[in-house]
Amino acid sequence: MERKKIVAANWKMNTLHAEAITLAKDILTMTRLVKEVEKIIFPPFPFINDVALLLQSETGFSTGAQNCSAYEKGAYTGEVSCAMIHSVGAEYVLIGHSERRAYFKEDAEVLVAKVHRALAQHLKVVYCFGEVLNERKAGQHQAVVKKQLQEVISQVPKEKMNQLILAYEPVWAIGTGETASPAQAQNMHAFVRQCLAELVDTETATSMPVLYGGSCNAQNAKELFACPDVDGGLIGGASLKPQEFASIVKAFQ
Ligand code: PGA
Repeated sequence: MERKKIVAANWKMNTLHAEAITLAKDILTMTRLVKEVEKIIFPPFPFINDVALLLQSETGFSTGAQNCSAYEKGAYTGEVSCAMIHSVGAEYVLIGHSERRAYFKEDAEVLVAKVHRALAQHLKVVYCFGEVLNERKAGQHQAVVKKQLQEVISQVPKEKMNQLILAYEPVWAIGTGETASPAQAQNMHAFVRQCLAELVDTETATSMPVLYGGSCNAQNAKELFACPDVDGGLIGGASLKPQEFASIVKAFQ
């Protein structure tokens, strides 16, 4: 079965307002013709609305939030709810990113709560997971990934599985310039599908998009995207350079 091809831009805590708009416009102009690839842009919170407005009449472009609150609404100073995110035109939210797990101590309980909130607001979730370097060196990468999938996927009702996209991001490859080799990526993505078959069913295992993230760039994208179980990329650093991001998107052609 033919899965969607997706390339997502995670801008993290970068850009000011004017830069964000220019970047979104440049990405739009440079990738508009690559119709077979769905582009998702994850700007910082304050710029989601403007980026979403810019992309709303375009086909093949969507906007997402990099985070969301685990709470519904109310006295949670500084938090941003899924309903708020949805109300400014975002369709997606990133949950489980390694930077959220490491720096903000987000554990499985919080991640499951966030996923439930997001799905209830009809947001699609890009659920990120991946092992750290020591875990890979110790040969524990599959066990770690299986646990991270099990903790969250088993809590998602079957009828909502089509609101989920997965992103395997080996932590040792994020922002380090080091990338998983195509063989390492393919092995893990195939293993992820095996886990999905066990945790959910074979239909979900074959239909769910699984993206690769971690120093994906214009040089290595083609090889990574050629792997049969890699359905695209979640791009950090390289998504801040429109030319480079466009080359990554075009690597799918
Ligand atoms: P990177 O980040 O492309 O800069 O490694 C990927 C990510 O964290 O989503």
